[in-house]
Amino acid sequence: MFPQVRMRRLRSANIQRMVCETTLSTDDIIYPMFIDENISTPQKIPSMPGIYRLPPSQAASDAKEASDLGIPAVILFGIPEKKDEKGSSACGDDDVVQKAAREIKNELGKDMAIITDVCLCEYTTHGHCGVVNYESEEVLNDPTLDILGQVAVSHAKAGADMVAPSGMMDGMIKAIRSSLDSNNYSNIPIMSYAAKYSSTFYGPFRDAADSGYSFGDRSGYQMNPANSNEALREVELDIKEGADIVMVKPALPYLDILYRIKDTFKIPTAAYNVSGEYSMLKAAAQNGWLDERSVMYESLLSIKRAGADMIITYFAKDIARLLK
Ligand code: PBG
Repeated sequence: MFPQVRMRRLRSANIQRMVCETTLSTDDIIYPMFIDENISTPQKIPSMPGIYRLPPSQAASDAKEASDLGIPAVILFGIPEKKDEKGSSACGDDDVVQKAAREIKNELGKDMAIITDVCLCEYTTHGHCGVVNYESEEVLNDPTLDILGQVAVSHAKAGADMVAPSGMMDGMIKAIRSSLDSNNYSNIPIMSYAAKYSSTFYGPFRDAADSGYSFGDRSGYQMNPANSNEALREVELDIKEGADIVMVKPALPYLDILYRIKDTFKIPTAAYNVSGEYSMLKAAAQNGWLDERSVMYESLLSIKRAGADMIITYFAKDIARLLK
């Protein structure tokens, strides 16, 4: 008799439920928020339908909405009023992210984990992720580390529950860990953007966060999309320097990287389903070419299946509503 093994036996609806290997839960979802000091009402982001920049005064109510949907964490990005060469407005007590973090913490307390993106590109006039030497058009690694340490401490002071350095500077995890520790924040975990690729998929984010660069690109510090072994080295180093969670970014075009990292290190691993991944699906859905809800679900489920424990996604509220 042929076929002897019939895989379809396990595919009737109730049996399929029992043999399902991956589940997507709202517990795994992190909601990214753009807080803009220059506005007083929410502003649409044209390249990211459904996503808004919010004034700091509305951060708490938006985070409350996410919390009511069961989302456990937000990640905050700031758009400051003033930029300079060193990104000074990234670390003041009353700067944009610090203000938003404080308000969210006051409103929601332990009901919402506040993660903050620690990087300089939104705060520098040149838009790079560190201080630069204009003549050589170089981003200077070591002088940037001190500043990142100060930024992380200012976030913790304002109520951040976790910091997420995204600048891809060498040694940033160790620098931030030691600043946090020496300022009595040894309990604040670090989620490192460990394997962050130099990706065109960040395009819409740069509109959203006003963080495009004035010269060159980021390929001198972010990873080459052609490389995979290098991602393992990045992660290994970050773990040695004290990272508690490592991240792969972008997500969908880099599921192989996610899989290898989780398989090798077994450490809590995050994936960032980035702006371009979101905008592609939104655009196709708006044209009626893809069914939005099911393509969103399938994408996020795939990221989880590949090894992510948690996912930063602009679909956060939509998927939370779907899963409810
Ligand atoms: C800042 C940062 C970027 C993103 C997150 N943090 C942009 C960049 O590196 O240019 C991208 C997120 C997205 O595309 O959704 N360094």
